[in-house]
Amino acid sequence: MEVTLKIFRYNPEVDKTFHYETYTIEAHETDRILDLLEHVKGYNDGTLSFRRSCAHGVCGSDAMRINGRNMLACKALVRDVGDKITVEPLLGLKVQKDLIVDMEPFFDNYKKVLPYFINDSPLPADGKERLQSPEQRARFDDTTKCILCAACTTSCPSYWGTDSYLGPAALVTAHRFIFDSRDEAAAERLHVISETDGVARCHTIFNCTMACPRDIQITKAIGELKMATLTGKIE
Ligand code: SF4
Ligand code: F3S
Ligand code: FES
Repeated sequence: MEVTLKIFRYNPEVDKTFHYETYTIEAHETDRILDLLEHVKGYNDGTLSFRRSCAHGVCGSDAMRINGRNMLACKALVRDVGDKITVEPLLGLKVQKDLIVDMEPFFDNYKKVLPYFINDSPLPADGKERLQSPEQRARFDDTTKCILCAACTTSCPSYWGTDSYLGPAALVTAHRFIFDSRDEAAAERLHVISETDGVARCHTIFNCTMACPRDIQITKAIGELKMATLTGKIE
């Protein structure tokens, strides 16, 4: 089949503003949008710039807007998006070149929630593991699945309006550690997310949940965080 691929282009070294370029290429309905971008880069224009690494939905590097929706280019198939395809960079982050955005503000927000395991207590007497029941492990299982692709945060209207808002991805990470029974820094993280740019900026819009390529129940997780900040209880 023939597909029309309209791609956002911007090279800060030569362009005053962005423009779109359109390519007509042969594709299979099972091709991924990433395959089409690789084709254009390989056969039409080697200067086309985009991030990718694993090509299997694991690394989170190729989130972009495909026909207006945030997706991973390596997971979106032609048969899912149709034969007229517009590819644009994520919204809310500065475009560095073509489909590449500056991820630094995203990771700055991520770092604020202390995205690592904290437990300074001595190990149990046997010197082995900090035990956790299957139920305790299940409590935060969903939020362990995040691959930091930023599809959620950059689809959130609250983030578009206020980029100091921590955003759903950082909150998902906060959830992953706050609800881990082995971690000891929940109070510190709850303090961070209780501040002005924390959970209060989430207006339950659900774009984040719809955009997540890992099907994480993000809005639900943020709701649990809101409850924890109000009650001080982690249940
Ligand atoms: Fe991507 Fe989902 Fe993680 Fe957001 S929560 S960064 S959409 S994997
Ligand atoms: Fe934004 Fe998701 Fe809340 S889209 S407003 S973080 S539910
Ligand atoms: Fe790694 Fe798509 S290239 S998630």
